[in-house]
Amino acid sequence: MERIDVKINPTQGSSYPILIGENLLDNPYEHIRKCTSANRFLIVTNDKVHSLYGNKLASDFSEFIILPDGEEYKSREILGTIIDKALKLKLERKDAIIAFGGGVIGDMAGFAAAIYQRGIDYIQLPTTLLAQVDSSVGGKVAVNHKLSKNVLGSFYQPKLVLADTNTLNTLDDRQFKTGLSEVLKYAFIEKSCKAEVDYHFFEFLETHRNEIFSKNHEILKKLIKICCLLKSSVVNKDEKEKGLRAILNFGHTYAHALEIVTDYRYFTHGEAVSIGMKIIFDLALNTGTISREYYNRSIKLLKDYNLVTDFNIKLDEELFYDAMKSDKKVSDGNINFVMPVSVKEVAMRNNIDKKHILSGI
Ligand code: NAD
Ligand code: GLY
Repeated sequence: MERIDVKINPTQGSSYPILIGENLLDNPYEHIRKCTSANRFLIVTNDKVHSLYGNKLASDFSEFIILPDGEEYKSREILGTIIDKALKLKLERKDAIIAFGGGVIGDMAGFAAAIYQRGIDYIQLPTTLLAQVDSSVGGKVAVNHKLSKNVLGSFYQPKLVLADTNTLNTLDDRQFKTGLSEVLKYAFIEKSCKAEVDYHFFEFLETHRNEIFSKNHEILKKLIKICCLLKSSVVNKDEKEKGLRAILNFGHTYAHALEIVTDYRYFTHGEAVSIGMKIIFDLALNTGTISREYYNRSIKLLKDYNLVTDFNIKLDEELFYDAMKSDKKVSDGNINFVMPVSVKEVAMRNNIDKKHILSGI
């Protein structure tokens, strides 16, 4: 088992472990009980994850709420049903929520924990690659609004992240690749994460493609660990996205707009992110920000991992631009982009004109 300690605000109790390994769901409460003194647990999950792994969490001190599956259900209405369930169960301040699923469940259950009785403990049990490498770590919790993604939310850290890599065996190819999209993001931003160690993550991904696709668990554990180390390096320095943390949104300004204008139904989040990263690489090349050599190497990595980089639906440019302007990174009316500026390095840019912005879609 691998362990990483996220050390955001140690004196205020925001530090927590991330445990990564096979078979961790064989005895989940052994790990959970070390991180919370909760008596009872409300397990928030969806029908798919419940049918696959619900038995691993069932106990006489926990209750499930089983939600419909899909990004379109990451909404105020479904959030309300979690709160209703917590109230019906008379969940108390010393009880806890367990987020058991992918990023949709993790973000929504975490937000329910943040607002129920002004905040109760919660545990992240991520079951998708995307959630294990990214969304379960760092405390961003939220639901969507039809006009803006993740716009209702908070920064609220879990007490524990428990990532059982065995759950990745049941992910279909599309969902596995959607996680790989956030994985590649870390290769493109590694230098800017300011970690103590150079993990040579870009080279790691160039070397281990076949083992990753065949779900070699030793390599997957290493991959998840490096992503979590890079993410925690950023989050430890800037929990509430006053500056540095914005780099984690590489590719996301386009991605969120794509998700909004297609009603969260056409692309998975990771597909939208890989398309967003390709567009921003094109923009960086066309504005002379990066070398042709680095551009080619980056696009090759996206292609080698078979990530979605193109789409053939016609988008309304004004609607798309409006959706981009609803992004949380807009300030003083300017859209802030995370741009590649050199090998594995990114920086914020907000002086890109509308014509260039829309040239990619
Ligand atoms: P998801 O939660 O919708 O899960 C994808 C699909 O996989 C779903 O159908 C789900 O039921 C299924 N699934 C889950 N675990 C499975 C398993 N072990 N085996 C088989 N199927 C399984 O999507 P996601 O890609 O995990 O997460 C995307 C969400 O994460 C988006 O809402 C995005 O905004 C959010 N996100 C949040 C952060 C953050 O920092 N909070 C970071 C990145 C993404
Ligand atoms: N996924 C973006 C962040 O955690 O900040």
